[in-house]
Amino acid sequence: MPENDLMDKIVSLCKRRGFVFPGSEIYGGLANSWDYGPLGHLLKQNIKSLWWKFFVQEREDMVPLDSAIIMNPKAWEASGHLQNFSDELVECKKCHHRFRSDQLPKRKKCSDCGGALTAPKSFNLMFKTFLGTTEDTATTAYLRPETAGGMFVNFKNIVNTTRRRLPFGIAQIGKCFRNEITPGNFIFRTREFEIGELEYFIKPDEWEKVFEMWLSEIKRWWKDAMQVNTDNLVWREIPDNERAHYSKRTVDIEYKYPFGTQELHGIAYRTDFDLSRHEAVSGQDLHYTDPETGEKFLPHVIEPTFGIDRTLLVCLLEAYHEEQAPTAEKGETETRVVMKFPKHLAPVQVAVLPLSKKENLAKVAKEVAAALRADFAVDYDDTQSIGKRYRRQDEIGTPYCVTVDFDSLEDKKITVRDRDTMKQNRVAIKDLSNYLKEKFV
Ligand code: GAP
Repeated sequence: MPENDLMDKIVSLCKRRGFVFPGSEIYGGLANSWDYGPLGHLLKQNIKSLWWKFFVQEREDMVPLDSAIIMNPKAWEASGHLQNFSDELVECKKCHHRFRSDQLPKRKKCSDCGGALTAPKSFNLMFKTFLGTTEDTATTAYLRPETAGGMFVNFKNIVNTTRRRLPFGIAQIGKCFRNEITPGNFIFRTREFEIGELEYFIKPDEWEKVFEMWLSEIKRWWKDAMQVNTDNLVWREIPDNERAHYSKRTVDIEYKYPFGTQELHGIAYRTDFDLSRHEAVSGQDLHYTDPETGEKFLPHVIEPTFGIDRTLLVCLLEAYHEEQAPTAEKGETETRVVMKFPKHLAPVQVAVLPLSKKENLAKVAKEVAAALRADFAVDYDDTQSIGKRYRRQDEIGTPYCVTVDFDSLEDKKITVRDRDTMKQNRVAIKDLSNYLKEKFV
């Protein structure tokens, strides 16, 4: 399939089935803004829960945090974002389109109309807002461009309240905002997005070993937890001149998207840059005292960061399959679109489909669905033909469909259809929940 066709198909499936809608659509939309619909919300929630389980719950060295989006602006002065968090912007003198100068293939001409470009100027990506009722510099505040700041300014609070010893990490998932010059490629680059971020505090001389430990955890995340085809991942060591102002080593984990190989997420060695800057600007002592040696020092930090929306995009791209499948007519086939999400990420886990809307059948089907809801995300669908309902469930990636037919009234059994093999099994209603539980482990 031509590669951009795949993006078009994903965007269209997402809208058609309620994964992702264009933002503010009834007002003609808002460029590059997207809303997660019912299934998109569930998929994102499943990704975030898995991330949390993998990187926080299953580890003994992590603590959670949920810090404010709007911080004291001095925090952004300290972190260097006010001075350094910018891209170079050029504008076409003819059509007035604006570009990031590093993204223009021919830097001297506008890629839309060929017009001459202005000299590059620095454009800070932080969204400005005003606190209170007057809009002046005294009340200027910023929407956070990363969640890291909240974790650094709470470092002391966390050490004091949790009695944690090094090494330990702070984790949070949250919304971030960047006034991107060139957002695009669906949910790949937007102005409002979510990240899952870890700040892992260590003794300075341990950074190389800990960096490698996190690289192997990240590999495990993509292979075992997200079940991504790791051939689609590229590990890129970022050279000195491309690294963020705070980083001494960065590895970007890139993905082979249909629109090119680009960043999925990254890991950085932030040294003691942040704690030392916050100490200098706030005047507070942020040193850590080693309880064994009594030595006082500023911990260093390894920071694995994950874009949740890009993770979701990768999940959609990996799941999308088109296959030839038999139709109801003997010997005929049709194209079946099936989202082969890993079962534990599927937004709907089980669909209950009564073969007819007749009352006696509906009663049993509703009882089956109600019982399953205790353990699974369940969809109940009694519209259209059974073939169409199977196709719909395939398109939203439901691993199992449970069909209730007239025989069910007699033999107290239902049919379970497997999304990937399309094989069907007759299972006793009383055994159904356990049968499905075994499929999800
Ligand atoms: N604290 C480090 C940090 O924020 P970053 O590489 O600037 O690092 C982290 O951003 C991750 O956030 C990226 O790797 C990417 O996955 C995601 N991300 C960054 N900008 C984004 C945008 N405009 N839209 C969607 N995701 C974005």
